[in-house]
Formats: sequence, structure tokens, C-alpha cells
Amino acid sequence: MKATVKKSMVSFHSDSNQFKSRHFLNDHIIEIKGLEKDFDGFKAVDGISFKVRRGELFSLLGPNGAGKSTTIRMLTTVLKPTSGDAYVADYSLVNEKNKIKPFIGVCPQENVIFEALTAEDNVAFVGRMHGMRPEDIKTRSQYLLENMNIAGRKKASKSFSGGMKRRLNLAMSLVHQPHILFLDEPTAGLDPQARRLVWDFIKELKNTGMTIVLTTHDMVEADALSDHVAIMDHGKIIALGTLEEVKRGTNNGNILDVSFSSKDDLLRAKSKIGALESVQKTEDKQNNKLSVFFTGGVKSFKLEILPELESFKTLHFREDTLEDVFLKLTGRGLRDN
Ligand SMILES: Nc1ncnc2c1ncn2[C@@H]1O[C@H](COP(=O)(O)OP(=O)(O)OP(=O)(O)O)[C@@H](O)[C@H]1O
Ligand SMILES: [Mg+2]
Repeated sequence: MKATVKKSMVSFHSDSNQFKSRHFLNDHIIEIKGLEKDFDGFKAVDGISFKVRRGELFSLLGPNGAGKSTTIRMLTTVLKPTSGDAYVADYSLVNEKNKIKPFIGVCPQENVIFEALTAEDNVAFVGRMHGMRPEDIKTRSQYLLENMNIAGRKKASKSFSGGMKRRLNLAMSLVHQPHILFLDEPTAGLDPQARRLVWDFIKELKNTGMTIVLTTHDMVEADALSDHVAIMDHGKIIALGTLEEVKRGTNNGNILDVSFSSKDDLLRAKSKIGALESVQKTEDKQNNKLSVFFTGGVKSFKLEILPELESFKTLHFREDTLEDVFLKLTGRGLRDN
């Protein structure tokens, strides 16, 4: 499987089309204002607002049923919002939805492919829908299928594995060089190698200036790719910002586990550390271990806590992971229902 991605995409832009010629009014290519979706009185999306900068990768995170796909489906004009609006590529979702379509590509959570067709014919079908010239479709399709490692297959796509179908759907979403790419769980069901291939490709797309909005359950994926993240739960945005901002926002982002040679050493350290302003709480563990929950990151660790530790056996310092943050905010793991 190929690990790197060819660079032909950039020149393809200048050959063909809209990508470079469109002038956007706004630094924010997506602006969501009080978007809401109601299914028979149930608010799947409950008045969310946020902006996505041109050229960034924005991740929407949340547990099952949080409202991520419903949000993506509204932003990609598949679902009509119950209230609120969003500007996508400077066009209103409510009033100008047909103008948005040429600028976006979508890889939905559930694959949408024509199983009787080959990979190439599937991609070509989407290209024709977007009014592309046959020669452009051919070049583009070849490029995308090669990068997704499914080029040259002449069989109908119903014979493809789940991972191949996913990568084919990704290729289909990109044939028309969208300015904005929406990926709803792009790597769900992919093996680690294919996942890495898709990540590399997503990074490459970002380098071409494409704006990417993705949903994921995979915190490693969110950490590796995102510029900004939003955490969603019960239809609402409960945290928004850069990865660092979101981690800091929970306000007790650091944990120190220290072990001591004796109970006396532990108690001495505990009384000193426990009195510090940056320390929120301490917890005694078995075998003369102490967990210290504190704010202020490495700085307060070095300047405040460490000087108070006269003797210790082992010391383990860690920051909250995105998963820790999520648990604190929602009380649920990302994979819980
Ligand atoms: N067409 C629909 N009719 C009724 N309820 C719906 C519909 N689509 C989604 N829902 C409900 O809205 C809520 C949000 O669903 P959504 O698919 O947006 O969640 P999600 O965050 O994408 O979850 P997952 O991580 O499982 O993909 C869920 O409770 C779901 O059952
Ligand atoms: Mg979903």
C-alpha cells in the first residue's frame, strides 16, 4: 500500500476549474447560526453556532446520537434545518442551497455507491453529475483511485471489501475538486494501514487549501489532524476551540502520580502540595502512591509542585487527553450510548 500521495492535485486545480477562481468574501467559509433540527419534537441538533475558517480542518466529536451526522447532513443540503441558518461558501443554506452544491464534497457515514458499477464508473458518475468534462473526469478519477489504492480494478464494486468501499466513497466525494470536504467518520471500519493512508491523503488535501470538516470517534485521528474541534452532546456544542483550548477549558487538565518509599514521606509531601493554589485535590492510592490533580501545566509542575517534593520514588506526569476531557464534560465515553 502506498504511503505517500502524488502532488498532481495542485496542478489539476490550475488546469481546471473553480477551485482557485472563486473569491470568498469571508475568512470563515462556514458560519453556522443557531442551527436546529427537530425530528417529531426531538431536537437532534439544538441551536448550534460556530465558524470554520477557510483551509482548516475542523473536527466534530461526540458520542453516538450526539447530532454530528444530522449537522453534516444539514450543512451538505441533504436535510432542511428546522430553524437557524448557515452560510456555506458564502451562501445561505436556507435560501441558496443549490448554489452551495458545486463547492462541497461529501463522504456520508453510510457509503453511497452503485454496487453494479466499477470503481472508475462510480467516480465518473459523480463527475458527470457535476458537469465535468470526460477528459478531466478520467485524469481525476485515475489520480484519486490510485491514491486510495483501488485503481485498475475492473470488477463491480459489490465485490469490494468494506475498507475498499469506504475509500471509493472518499474518492467519489473529491472528483469535482470541492472547496469544502465533509467527511462523516471517514476511517470507520478501516484497518490501521488504510487509516494511515487516508490520514496522509487528508493532510495532503489540506495542503492544497481545501477546507475539511470531519466527524470521528477516534481521538488519535482528531489529535493528528484537527486545527479546531467542537465537542457535541445531546445536540449542543459543549466545547469549542483548538485542541489545546478545549483541553485547558476543563480546568483540571493535569495529573501527577507520585510514589514514595514510606507513608511518612507521602504524608509530608501531601500536606505541602495540598496547600498549593494550583492543586485542586490529592488522592491517596495503594502502595504509598499519591495522585495530584492540578492546573497550570508544566509550569506549575516545575515551579510549584516539584520544589515541594523532597523525596519520591517514581513520578508520572500527564495532561488530560481529549478522551479525558470528553468524559469530564459529558460523563460518557466517546463510544458509549
Ligand atoms: N431521520 C431521523 N428521524 C428521527 N430521528 C433521527 C433521524 N436522524 C437522526 N435521528 C436521531 O437524532 C439523533 C442524532 O443522530 P445523529 O445521527 O446525528 O448522531 P451522530 O452524532 O451522528 O451519532 P453516531 O456517532 O452514532 O453516528 C439520534 O438520537 C438519532 O436517533
Ligand atoms: Mg453519525
